Amino acid sequence: MNATKPARPTLPLPGSLTVLGIESSCDDTAAAVVRHGGDGAAILSNVVMDQGTLHAAFGGVVPEIAARAHAEKLDLAVEAALDTAGLALADLDAIAVTAGPGLIGGVLAGVMLARGLAAATGLPLLGMNHLAGHALTPRLTDGLGFPYLLLLVSGGHCQFLLVSGVDAYTRLGGTIDDAPGEAFDKVARLLGLAQPGGPAVEAEAATGDPVRFALPRPLLDRPGCDLSFSGLKTAVLRARDGLVAAHGGLRRSDRADLCAGFQGAVTDVLAQKARRALVEYMALAPRDPVLAVAGGVAANRVLRAALEAVAHDTGARFVAPPLALCTDNAAMIAWAGIEHLRAGLPVADDFVARPRWPLDTHSPALIGAGRKGAKA
Ligand code: KG4
Ligand code: ZN
Repeated sequence: MNATKPARPTLPLPGSLTVLGIESSCDDTAAAVVRHGGDGAAILSNVVMDQGTLHAAFGGVVPEIAARAHAEKLDLAVEAALDTAGLALADLDAIAVTAGPGLIGGVLAGVMLARGLAAATGLPLLGMNHLAGHALTPRLTDGLGFPYLLLLVSGGHCQFLLVSGVDAYTRLGGTIDDAPGEAFDKVARLLGLAQPGGPAVEAEAATGDPVRFALPRPLLDRPGCDLSFSGLKTAVLRARDGLVAAHGGLRRSDRADLCAGFQGAVTDVLAQKARRALVEYMALAPRDPVLAVAGGVAANRVLRAALEAVAHDTGARFVAPPLALCTDNAAMIAWAGIEHLRAGLPVADDFVARPRWPLDTHSPALIGAGRKGAKA
């Protein structure tokens, strides 16, 4: 970072703001245009190009393959986002790009493209935090006021965040090892199910017995809201190996029962920790208490129902944005840029791409990683 270059002061705010968002921190190449005007916010386009089968043979996202694919597709994604919105670069007020946390090669590909566009057009450039994009999405979709409690639960992240302002986050807890989506994906692989594992495990679990296998509820015996999922995945592996040793393979019902047991354990742990996080949050006496979720795992119906029940028990509303805005996308990055500008935060275009970038810089770092690498 160039410490001598002063941050551009806040921009004069026009009546409406139209921002191009660019996201490439994991395996989705995404661009979107979001406008905020007198009558609220509108997503004018939201293009997500996933990397399909590119990583399938490797059992996870391969950073170099992801970075190359982003570099090849990003300009197409931006073009498609502008076309769909019916706009040209000259119609924009700013460009917002994910500057971290994430796989650094992909983040750099996005930042380089955004820098080029900003240099060519003279538009202000904002380097946004990917996690802030997720965290602020419920304001875009549901107009939430601060503070609200957010559970971010995906293949790459798992944390409870108290969102008190555009730039004010307190992490109440997070995973110390795997993210839940990552655990769903690994369990699916162990049981010979398709990827992504979450939907496959949920479908198998529908006919399974969740109590046949006594799977652990990691960290429930400890105070606080931190979570752990890697031991649970190992417990599924052991149970599977036991069945294979006893019967020479897995029967359909074994697979269903293991899936139901695993999903039940993840749900129990997240629901109980959510209850604890809600107690901390409700102590702030929020005017309109809300538990919101973000991330791909929030698609899980059993988990959603459990979180909704916990929220209602505690007197909070449950808010789940549409799935396309819960999973990685660029509308959330454009929106984070709009929030940044509307909050009058400074615009410094000399930001650097960062593999790690915790939203809450006061809480101690978690050991946990998630498949996108250590991040918070
Ligand atoms: O937020 P997301 O699209 O990407 C990142 O992780 O960045 O989340 C994808 C994750 C995958 O691990 C996938 O298995 C999981 O969300 N997922 C689910 C379900 N649908 C997707 N996990 C559990 N149940 C589901 N129905
Ligand atoms: Zn994400």
